[in-house]
Amino acid sequence: MLIHLIAAARPNFMKIAPLYHALKKEPWAQPVIVHTGQHYDLNMSDVFFQDLGLPEPEIHLGVGSGSHAEQAGQVMMAYENILLESRPGLVIVVGDVNSTMACTIAAVKIPEDRAQKSKNNKTGRPIVAHLEAGLRSYDRTMPEEINRLVTDTLADILWTPSPDGDKNLMQEGVARTKIQRVGNIMIDSLEMLRDTIEKQNVCSELNLNAGDYGLVTLHRPSNVDDPQILKRLCKELVGIAKQVPLVFPIHPRTRKNIENLELMVDLEKDKQLIISEPLNYIKFMNLVFNCRFALTDSGGIQEETTYLGIPCLTLRPNTERPITIDQGTNKLCDLDNLAENVREALTQKKSDVPRIEFWDGRTAERVVKSIKSLLS
Ligand code: UD1
Repeated sequence: MLIHLIAAARPNFMKIAPLYHALKKEPWAQPVIVHTGQHYDLNMSDVFFQDLGLPEPEIHLGVGSGSHAEQAGQVMMAYENILLESRPGLVIVVGDVNSTMACTIAAVKIPEDRAQKSKNNKTGRPIVAHLEAGLRSYDRTMPEEINRLVTDTLADILWTPSPDGDKNLMQEGVARTKIQRVGNIMIDSLEMLRDTIEKQNVCSELNLNAGDYGLVTLHRPSNVDDPQILKRLCKELVGIAKQVPLVFPIHPRTRKNIENLELMVDLEKDKQLIISEPLNYIKFMNLVFNCRFALTDSGGIQEETTYLGIPCLTLRPNTERPITIDQGTNKLCDLDNLAENVREALTQKKSDVPRIEFWDGRTAERVVKSIKSLLS
């Protein structure tokens, strides 16, 4: 079975890697990585392929940046041609980026091919499966929420990471038979590379002590695209760095906006505020393992810190990953209460959080089992 694994942006790569490796071991499976090109910088894409032991993508759509409609439209046009040429039996999309939604739409609308019809596939088009299905922030101003809703509405198989995902989908009227809880695939990557991650010593390279710094990542349009908000945010970071050193690997979107506002000098002035380029997976995870707390607006970091029992402050009004809050590691905050929340996080210790079912490094195994049962 020809299986396309759709990879597009940084947070996708650690989700397809464990699956690619697991499928490669199966004699019946022919996994092929399709990179849409949404992220294209060396340090936003290639370095992740190296760290995660992935080969160069066999298919690269080379789409790049653009407005939401432009980016999604170009991915759909380019991927439609690939689908017609190669007719995969299964398309696996992950996460919630524009390419996730665009490839799903392209695949489910491909004209029927009689030869592709079988007992297990009555559609005559590729089966589409969404890994990390069912997450909802219930905030439709978030582009990712739209991507999640469209993808889950159209996909044939919905692999969820946690019980809230199952519940959300059932509330939306999705048939129970489409939903399968497989767990959190990112934990597979973390566990696959744990030894290598633990051997790194990134904090000492940065003159920091393990357990004595905050790790910052910010890239959401709602935090970094509005000049007033971004100015305030930078001021807050300078203030926090007076209490505790901060490491801030900057996303290209955030860097561009900070540079346009000429705020970089203020940030770089502060010795306790270490700005870096985006880091590769292994180095970044080493910083996560050893940080005292994370301050982020990313989805994945909320989950990784929860798994590791590290306090996380999420600078957002909501999260599509409420389980991280229920576990007690993650807290939503805003610019008004950020400083106070950081003070509180500094009093917290790394906790032994109760394990979440199926966040165990074996999600890829369960996905492979699910595909096998689809075939049999
Ligand atoms: C995208 C995803 C977001 C995910 C994030 C992780 C959507 C709607 N958003 O946001 O869910 O959390 O990736 O990073 O799909 N750029 C570069 N080099 C790159 C990539 C981007 O310079 O390799 C710059 C470009 O100027 C681009 C901007 O960053 O316009 C934004 O990139 P884009 O892929 O549109 O969205 P992200 O903000 O990265």
